[in-house]
Amino acid sequence: MFSQLVEKLPVGICVVNQDYEIQFLNDFFLDRMSSHWRAKYKGNQLADIFPEQVKFLKRRIKSVFVLQHPSFSYWEQRPHVFPFKSSRPITGEEMQMFQNMEIVPLTASDGERLACLILQDVTAQASYFIAQQDFSSALKREHEEQLALIKKLDTAQSQLIQAEKMASTGQLAAGIAHEINNPIGFVSANLDTLKQYSFHLIQLCDALADKLQTGSGELADFANETLNSFHYELLKEDMAPLVDESTEGLSRVRDIVENLKQFALEKSGGWQLVNIHETAEQLIQLISAQYKTPVYKVQCEPENLQIFCDPGGMKQALTNIVMNAAQSIDTKGFVKIDIKAGAQWVKIKIIDSGSGISQDNLKKVFDPFFTTKPEGMGQGLGLSVAYTAIERHKGKISASSNPGRGTVFEIIVPLHAAEQQSAAC
Ligand SMILES: Nc1ncnc2c1ncn2[C@@H]1O[C@H](COP(=O)(O)OP(=O)(O)OP(=O)(O)O)[C@@H](O)[C@H]1O
Ligand SMILES: [Mg+2]
Repeated sequence: MFSQLVEKLPVGICVVNQDYEIQFLNDFFLDRMSSHWRAKYKGNQLADIFPEQVKFLKRRIKSVFVLQHPSFSYWEQRPHVFPFKSSRPITGEEMQMFQNMEIVPLTASDGERLACLILQDVTAQASYFIAQQDFSSALKREHEEQLALIKKLDTAQSQLIQAEKMASTGQLAAGIAHEINNPIGFVSANLDTLKQYSFHLIQLCDALADKLQTGSGELADFANETLNSFHYELLKEDMAPLVDESTEGLSRVRDIVENLKQFALEKSGGWQLVNIHETAEQLIQLISAQYKTPVYKVQCEPENLQIFCDPGGMKQALTNIVMNAAQSIDTKGFVKIDIKAGAQWVKIKIIDSGSGISQDNLKKVFDPFFTTKPEGMGQGLGLSVAYTAIERHKGKISASSNPGRGTVFEIIVPLHAAEQQSAAC
């Protein structure tokens, strides 16, 4: 009865001796073997009947004989020790059987040492486990895709906000620049006329004073008294320089408005050759009108370097960086734009001697909405917009800083396109 029980067990039983000759196979094995071997397996080599994984099997069996200790192999390490088929639990589809195997040492009644291989069909558990794994990696993939999408959306949203901000600032600037230009025109014309008038008035007063002072005593006294009481000499001296200063002030206002118009209101005409030296100078003029503390400097090698770029994006990137640099200077310091052309690249450095950025913050400065400025003072978008703009130029932007001493932003953009463009011209 026991031998019948062993034959019918739902696990595979295979007994081998120390020479790897098969001594016994139960029905689990026999049902899955060719009729050729089924009839005459006894005494034959394991390697002849199951050549597929024989090296592995022999190594394991040998260890059991030597150590007299069971050995276990789990389906995840070695899924198919014997080349049997099994059917999937739900679909019923035939597939390679997943197996757990245990080898235990036995001793026959005549004292011969044997090893018994116990094979368990774990296809159901394994396919369930694999399906779960597939499912969880699909979920993980989906989660990663969602995260990437959220990041993209974040970037798009901040670009939109910035574009909106720039567009409305631009529109506002356009209106103001237009309105300012008219009064500048007539104030400056009036000042010119006023200068002429004052010149004539002074000449008139001088002539009258001369005449009166050389006249009778009473008239001369009156003239001297009146001239003194109205501080005539002081007025005479001050009038011309006052008018000149005002004219110069007006011409500065005119320059700023002109720069503003060129800078903020320039219609996006797509990619084109841009004099980056001139752009930097214009930018400095605009920013220095607002942030007066720092000393500004622009250096460009070669002078009037032209690069092929999207003027809107490039100017926006430079404005945002230079503005931060200017804002980082409290009492005294400098902001420098250093432009150098190489064979293939142009390197633009924006150097400041301002407050600097801590190592921790340096990692975050390009993140949208990262700001250390008080609420309402900064949106934390300037650098993320600059980053995206430089990326669109196939360039790189990086920052290094020495807290308390200053910061350097470095932009590298290819010059290549510029060369092609100028060759074509
Ligand atoms: N040159 C710099 N010196 C010191 N800190 C800087 C400098 N440039 C950037 N930072 C730091 O990086 C942060 C992010 O700059 P970013 O231009 O993106 O935003 P913001 O200036 O705070 O606000 P926004 O530009 O939107 O008005 C700033 O808040 C500031 O802490
Ligand atoms: Mg900023």
